[in-house]
Amino acid sequence: MATHYFTASSLDGFIATAEHSLDWLLSQDIDLEGPMAYPAFEKSIGALVMGASTFEWVMRHEEGRWTYTQPTWVLSHRDLAVPAGADVRVTSADIRDVHSAMLDAAGGKDLWVVGGGDLAGQFADAGLLDEVWVQYAPVTLGSGAPLLPRRLDLELIEVARNRSFLCGRYRVARPGAGSSAP
Ligand SMILES: NC(=O)c1ccc[n+]([C@@H]2O[C@H](COP(=O)([O-])OP(=O)(O)OC[C@H]3O[C@@H](n4cnc5c(N)ncnc54)[C@H](OP(=O)(O)O)[C@@H]3O)[C@@H](O)[C@H]2O)c1
Repeated sequence: MATHYFTASSLDGFIATAEHSLDWLLSQDIDLEGPMAYPAFEKSIGALVMGASTFEWVMRHEEGRWTYTQPTWVLSHRDLAVPAGADVRVTSADIRDVHSAMLDAAGGKDLWVVGGGDLAGQFADAGLLDEVWVQYAPVTLGSGAPLLPRRLDLELIEVARNRSFLCGRYRVARPGAGSSAP
């Protein structure tokens, strides 16, 4: 049961504009049946976690509907409104407790840190992030919400082109785990 951060990014390392727009991303060409695309990845996922800004973006984008079927945790210090019937809990609990609850709920499947980047960093800080998947769009934004604002060592384990996107899959190196690199 691995914990993945799967996201799209601009070439200069932003996952949204400063105004939380994804227009630059949604206009890009991708084959949803192609290599490293979201639908196949999502089939392996048993529980989700996201920060408040990402949850609010999803709510705006889906016009108030909740489309994920997996149990979901939303990190926030606020009392965010959740659509009726959605399997979503809003929490400010310790990230390790959230991870443990996600493992219990995931039915043996993997966990997905949807974003943002600092939340993925919090999982990495706690030694709970296994993989980072990035779909790089052919765009630079200059500023915005950061991809992963931490100093981490990663090992590239898979690479693909999917139409407009350069896709990379990385394993997070554990501190002290050593490296086979020269
Ligand atoms: N390109 C992509 O594929 C992709 C993927 C995911 C997200 N996004 C976008 O990227 C942007 C990310 O926004 P963001 O950088 O602001 O990150 P975010 O993680 O979505 O939201 C940050 C907020 O989450 C809450 N939070 C984070 N950690 C917490 C903790 N440990 N305990 C309690 N609350 C916590 C805080 O909100 P409170 O003030 O409520 O406490 C914080 O201000 C969004 O626009 C999203 O739509 C893009």
